[in-house]
Amino acid sequence: MTPELSPIDTAKFVAAKTAAGFVQSGMRVGLGTGSTAAWLVRCLGEMVQDHGLKIQAVPTSSRTAQLAQDVGIEVTTLDQVGWLDLTIDGTDEFDPEFNLIKGGGGAHLQEKIVAMASDQMIVIADISKEVQTLGAFHLPVEVIPFGMKTTQKLVEETLISMDVLGRGTAFRQADSGLFVTDEGNHILDLNLGRIGNAYQLSLALNQLPGVVDNGLFLDICDKVIIGYGDGRVDVRDAKTGETSGNRIDLAEKTNVFTDMAED
Ligand code: 5RP
Repeated sequence: MTPELSPIDTAKFVAAKTAAGFVQSGMRVGLGTGSTAAWLVRCLGEMVQDHGLKIQAVPTSSRTAQLAQDVGIEVTTLDQVGWLDLTIDGTDEFDPEFNLIKGGGGAHLQEKIVAMASDQMIVIADISKEVQTLGAFHLPVEVIPFGMKTTQKLVEETLISMDVLGRGTAFRQADSGLFVTDEGNHILDLNLGRIGNAYQLSLALNQLPGVVDNGLFLDICDKVIIGYGDGRVDVRDAKTGETSGNRIDLAEKTNVFTDMAED
């Protein structure tokens, strides 16, 4: 039975399903983190279980690793496989140059390492993630716990000379206190409003000793697959500049929804 999906879940699902079509047997595949990436993992799980797809998957978080195992995908590590054919991940924002802000789920460090170790990165998103200029979404910065308040001050001083609209910073909270990443670090969220020069900002932030990495993904993404609430999909290619349209048949029988109902 196909449950009624909300327009936003439909958009995420159709983007993920289209991206899953780029995955072939024998590939080493990076699996992103977040609600859109979770749809991808479910689609790939179905392809593994029902259609004999054979892949080696490198998850970008403990959450994704758990889900991948739950749906029957063989999980390995980046160091085991060394290099990946393809990484598919969600995003918090993408701009016309295919640059991204990621890390809304606090996993951008592993996500960037995995994406940069891949021949190709495909981003899957609903249309609400499209922006003309990056920065409306907070920019996550992963910071080591030692001296974290001093690092926050250094980040704030750095922002003074940057081309940004706002300069607010706040450590991300979880239910039980400070948010902790899979690496045991914290996330400093920067409320910048608009980022005028993302390359300069990314370099400046990453030069600070307590900063591990920031959520700007610049010149990494090769394709963006955009899903819409009515089942339409656009595939935009960074190299060719071309966009192709498609539509996913939502009435098609799939175990992806059955698996969800059983969760
Ligand atoms: C996690 C990420 C996610 O890809 C990003 O937050 C998008 O998540 P969602 O698909 O749930 O909107 O970067 O660190």
